Amino acid sequence: MATFQVHTSPPLRGEATIHTAKNSVLPILAAALLTNEPCSILATPKLTDVDMLCELMRSCGCQIDWDQETLNLRADDLCLPANDDPMRRMRASILIMGPLLARLGVARVTLPGGCAIGQRPIDLHIKGMQALGAAVSLRDGHIELSGRLHGAAVYLDMPSVGATENIMMAASLASGVSRIENAAKEPEIIDLAQCLNMMGARVSGAGSGTIIIQGVPRLRGVQYQPIPDRIEAGTLACATAIAGGNVLLRGARSEHLRALLFKLQESGVIVIEQREGLRVRGKAVQPITVRTMSYPGFPTDLQAPMMAVACYAPGTSVFTETVFENRYMHASELRRLGASIRVEDRVALIDGGAELHGSRVICSDLRAGAALIVAAVGARGDTYVEDPNGHIDRGYERIEESLTELGVPIKRLTAD
Ligand code: UD1
Repeated sequence: MATFQVHTSPPLRGEATIHTAKNSVLPILAAALLTNEPCSILATPKLTDVDMLCELMRSCGCQIDWDQETLNLRADDLCLPANDDPMRRMRASILIMGPLLARLGVARVTLPGGCAIGQRPIDLHIKGMQALGAAVSLRDGHIELSGRLHGAAVYLDMPSVGATENIMMAASLASGVSRIENAAKEPEIIDLAQCLNMMGARVSGAGSGTIIIQGVPRLRGVQYQPIPDRIEAGTLACATAIAGGNVLLRGARSEHLRALLFKLQESGVIVIEQREGLRVRGKAVQPITVRTMSYPGFPTDLQAPMMAVACYAPGTSVFTETVFENRYMHASELRRLGASIRVEDRVALIDGGAELHGSRVICSDLRAGAALIVAAVGARGDTYVEDPNGHIDRGYERIEESLTELGVPIKRLTAD
């Protein structure tokens, strides 16, 4: 779809405003299916993942309209999805399962698609629904779930973000008390819990490893503004750490970015928490050790942009990816720019500090695409980042505009 042309950037200057978090907006959109009353999501980012989830939710009878940046939703005539094609294309579509089951007593999902960054099974989502009382069967390649939901204790073998969200939503309308043990602790989980509570749900403990949900008979409509996107902010911070400079990431919340900020500071970048956002100054000049983990560990979604930084930081950096098993696809493209990266299973060794040069590279997934754009900022000459499958627009609202505001010479060459 799009190709981005990036020329060697001078040090970054000025400020960019961080958009609303994709990973908060998607579950909060799905939560609108839990009520027949109108819901409004403020400052919704214009992302193709949002469009795709809206397409799926419309096919469930949900009315959805944009009013500038506000997304208005009303699911007063909810049904099973007539068109489940979006499910095959986007993993987050699994998030409609809990709400459908809770409202209709039945749900049907196909195995979800999305970025090819690992196996990404949905066993924990299914396990959660079963614990809440759903019967699960396989029919025509679909997973069908049915039953009246009741409170239950669910232990997650892994603190899955999506499974925690799905169970929280379903349990909100179940009878009795539910408990999620080893729940994900990401800021987006707290955001969803806050939104559900404004809808009349009784969720406590979000942000800790144990979440308690006291089911209620019905939820009401809500007007909600989700949190700013920590991954977008982190990506722009990485671009600054490569080109140097002094930027304000307006709206970025440093409390959501601690792991990244510590790592940038260890490598020589100055970060200053300001009331209006996060100021990032200077370049990475020391090698970086990164081990991805669930929150509050280093986010897997920033592993690829941070690897771009490591390509420029002199010395040998060591990265270990523990969340997804196939998330180094950017390494081969970074090598095209002249980076020295060896990958052995889940570990990547990056010999940084050599000059990188512009080349034609291709995006394999969303965050890999972001990493290539970030790396291109420091490469000599022109880099062409090709994104034939539109991965970058799934998660970054007009990334070229945010970078242009910071002084990066970047152009979108092909129509979106
Ligand atoms: C969410 C984020 C994604 C981020 C990821 C990890 C959204 C829309 N997406 O994805 O950007 O990269 O968290 O921070 O919020 N797993 C299982 N069984 C399951 C579910 C997950 O084994 O049923 C495994 C996955 O394969 C993966 C790990 O758990 O290895 C984490 O996945 P999960 O937290 O569920 O990621 P998502 O919610 O899909």
